[in-house]
Amino acid sequence: KTVYILNGPNLNLLGKRQPHIYGHVTLADVEADCTALGAELGVAIRFLQSNHEGQIIDWVHEARENGAGIVINPAAFTHTSVAILDALNTFEGPVIEVHISNVHKRESFRHHSYVSLRADGVIAGCGTEGYGLGLRRVASRLSGGAK
Ligand code: DQA
Repeated sequence: KTVYILNGPNLNLLGKRQPHIYGHVTLADVEADCTALGAELGVAIRFLQSNHEGQIIDWVHEARENGAGIVINPAAFTHTSVAILDALNTFEGPVIEVHISNVHKRESFRHHSYVSLRADGVIAGCGTEGYGLGLRRVASRLSGGAK
């Protein structure tokens, strides 16, 4: 089984970008942690980032073809993208939405998520540890763990 960990715009700058909000950990550090955790959990990891909406949609389609699970931090596309929601609605496996910051504590435009209309679970405000939490949940659902 494979878990796609998809990251949206500006997350390539994680660690350098507004560190008072997102911390100093880089996306490469998050990838290394997720790859190690994936090995422990017995799932393969495809860890990906793009600043382009269409690329994220193509990866959701790829995950669909592969019968995978998805952990997704859509970043700003969370609040704007009907197209990513539609792509996720073609996908039948487990989906966990992750936000590093607590979006509900921030500007009101971050309070609404299109992706949450499809996500099976949402993790926000746990910092970059949210990725590992999301990955544990998706791996558990892929192996038939508790609903
Ligand atoms: C984010 C929250 C979004 O509102 C923001 O646009 C991001 C990152 C987070 O991980 O906290 O780019 O998804």
